[in-house]
Amino acid sequence: MSQWVDVAAEGDIFEGAAIGVAVGGHDIAVYKTEAGEVFATHNICSHADARLCDGFLEGHEIECPYHQGRFDIRNGAATLEPCVDAIRSYPVKVDGGRVWVEID
Ligand code: FES
Repeated sequence: MSQWVDVAAEGDIFEGAAIGVAVGGHDIAVYKTEAGEVFATHNICSHADARLCDGFLEGHEIECPYHQGRFDIRNGAATLEPCVDAIRSYPVKVDGGRVWVEID
């Protein structure tokens, strides 16, 4: 059964940046774009063991800090090699100044 979990204050995430949160056994990266949109994906790169919250966010793409592969933060799709396999994306919403992620 899925549930919405409060993972951060919206103000804790700078625009154009990401944070890592651990929720119910999920390691999740929460991003805020320069335009103020918030997205969430699995935090571990599908290529090796890098944390995407330590990467470089540009538009809707997160660049992995290890080998500079990229993912679309809106859906987890791999967009630049060496990343090939998609990562999971999570439903996310902002309500009451808090960021909520839906996990199962
Ligand atoms: Fe992410 Fe290699 S670990 S691109």
